[in-house]
Amino acid sequence: MNPKRHLITAALPYANGPVHIGHLAGCYLPADIYVRYLRCKGEDVLFICGSDEHGVPITIKAKKEGITPQQVVDKYHKMMGDSFEEFGISFNIYSRTSKPIHHETASGFFRNLYDKGVFTEEVTEQYFDEKANQFLADRYITGTCPKCGNENAYGDQCEKCGSSLNATDLINPRSTLSGEKPVMRKTKNWFLPLDKMQPQITDYIESHKDWKTNVYGQCKSWLNQGLQPRAMTRDLDWGVKVPVEGSEGKVLYVWFDAPIGYISATKDYFQNPEVRSQHPEKNWELYWKDKDTRLIHFIGKDNIVFHCIIFPAMLMAHGEYILADNVPANEFLNLEGEKISTSRNWAVWLHEYLVAFKGKQDVLRYTLCANAPETKDNDFTWKDFQARNNNELVAILGNFVNRTLVLSHKYYEGKVPQADEYTKSDILLLEEISRFPARISESIEAFRFREALAELMNLARAGNKYLADNEPWKLATTDPTRVRTIMKISLEITANLAILMDPFLPFTAKRLKEMINLGGFTWAHAGRSELLAPGHKMNAPELLFDKIEDPAIEAEIQKLKDSKAVNDAIAHTTAPAKAETNFDDFSKMDIRVGTILEAERVPKTDKLLKLKIDTGIDQRTVVSGIAGYYKPEDIIGQRVSILVNLAPRKIKGIESQGMILMAENANGELAFVSPSKEIVNGGVIK
Ligand code: MF3
Ligand code: ZN
Repeated sequence: MNPKRHLITAALPYANGPVHIGHLAGCYLPADIYVRYLRCKGEDVLFICGSDEHGVPITIKAKKEGITPQQVVDKYHKMMGDSFEEFGISFNIYSRTSKPIHHETASGFFRNLYDKGVFTEEVTEQYFDEKANQFLADRYITGTCPKCGNENAYGDQCEKCGSSLNATDLINPRSTLSGEKPVMRKTKNWFLPLDKMQPQITDYIESHKDWKTNVYGQCKSWLNQGLQPRAMTRDLDWGVKVPVEGSEGKVLYVWFDAPIGYISATKDYFQNPEVRSQHPEKNWELYWKDKDTRLIHFIGKDNIVFHCIIFPAMLMAHGEYILADNVPANEFLNLEGEKISTSRNWAVWLHEYLVAFKGKQDVLRYTLCANAPETKDNDFTWKDFQARNNNELVAILGNFVNRTLVLSHKYYEGKVPQADEYTKSDILLLEEISRFPARISESIEAFRFREALAELMNLARAGNKYLADNEPWKLATTDPTRVRTIMKISLEITANLAILMDPFLPFTAKRLKEMINLGGFTWAHAGRSELLAPGHKMNAPELLFDKIEDPAIEAEIQKLKDSKAVNDAIAHTTAPAKAETNFDDFSKMDIRVGTILEAERVPKTDKLLKLKIDTGIDQRTVVSGIAGYYKPEDIIGQRVSILVNLAPRKIKGIESQGMILMAENANGELAFVSPSKEIVNGGVIK
């Protein structure tokens, strides 16, 4: 495919917190490198992003901070936009889904499908929190993933195995609002019949065997499991109102509205009068509806199902839109061996990085690209960051450029010298240089950005080797003609570096181009060795990079240690004291010493054991949520304390007659409470 234009999207981040290195490495940096590369080649490209301002993550954050959802998104939209800009993420537009243009677009899109009869209208039982008096969709509910057993899966997705879930699939569901087990309540919603659309979706995925293996593999696995209808509306009050009669109190599912955000952001861009006057021949529809547009979604791996199956299904159902040609999803970046976590403050925030490492945006871009989680999860460490700066950017790239420029100023007052005759090895080197642009292009076009960056560094290495082999400084007085040739070739390598580094290190590229006065060259010129004409005047050289010393790194490591200390302290906190009670109430509890006689897992659950207990009074069945800590075979004969006069209740169809008392710490670890010397079963605990 030789597309006329490229539409590149980067996942719209939830506006519920600042940007951290995981965001950058997962999606925004690779997207930006790709876009800058296309622009260097002179392609027609539009780079779209914006804040995802709906959905439960926003309302949960508002609750936590004690402000309104609107205040949350206003605060973080600004912060995130600023961070992206500061790190050179070169969106054509950073829009937001709270804009009227988005509400109109998303609502119009829904109405279009509705009028075509695409949706099925269904009254189903959904989880409802009676305490909070609201339905529990998506992230308002957590429970055990039926596919992989992760105990903290959300109502719409398990982040561990990537499965897309419906809230009713969860085992042991709990409300994240009250922690309570929710009840079922009937409600009407509109479903996208993905089951009926499976053949078309399968054709689409099958026509993209070229996708990254992690992406294609995930898609295949969903298709193999069989797609299920999915509700596109929610009983919530924050979001885009459902444009259908009888839908009061309902909004569009955030994963219905957010990807449409790519479309509305494109419209938003073309509403700008400046853009329209510069490009009167272009409009948003060209980018979304013309077959000659190549659409690419950059995302993190937790977004694969939404971009590869659900959004394409929506676009197919609409019928007028093109579908993504590729969805290069990255895996996750960890930090110092642990999962990045906003709530545990285990993160490197971009706005904080900039305070500690002012002007060093490219160092972070470099480290994150060199270490990008392209095929597997990867780790960011501060030591590696320091080493990459000192041993690669300073010692290889910076060193080569600096030696070349300083010598040129010393010998020729900054004027490019005329080369004399090339030696055999000069010619070999020039040939080698000419092959770099194609190699870097090939890697970038295959979304292998680490490899592309390594090639760029190999060019700088080749330059260093050339200087070391030829030692112009030793020939300066004896063979000035040869020195001119050596310096001319070194300057040509420098000019090539300036062009080829642009996608990765845009700030450095700009500075270097200014230093050598290199204007007007694009990717197509790279690889040549006559970019700088003899006599061309260059500006004074400056160091491109400088060393990062230990104290700066130690301060960052200390910051993380402090976070860890806080987190550990939280894990050790004592639960708050309860309100006063009285002896009468206490003595209503009939607590006995007992012994576990039998234990087995409750099928299809992770946490529950079915126990048979000798209470001294009788033998009875108790269902207990201790399977996460005890194996059935290990607890036969265990002495326990049991509340025997608790009203029986059914758990997973089993009648539980009483409750085992357990001691618990703040990490949720459980231990039995048993008598410290022999007391027969039925002994009273008082
Ligand atoms: N807000 C989502 C997240 O952070 C991504 C939305 S991508 C879009 O995981 F396609 F919906 F926009
Ligand atoms: Zn799972």
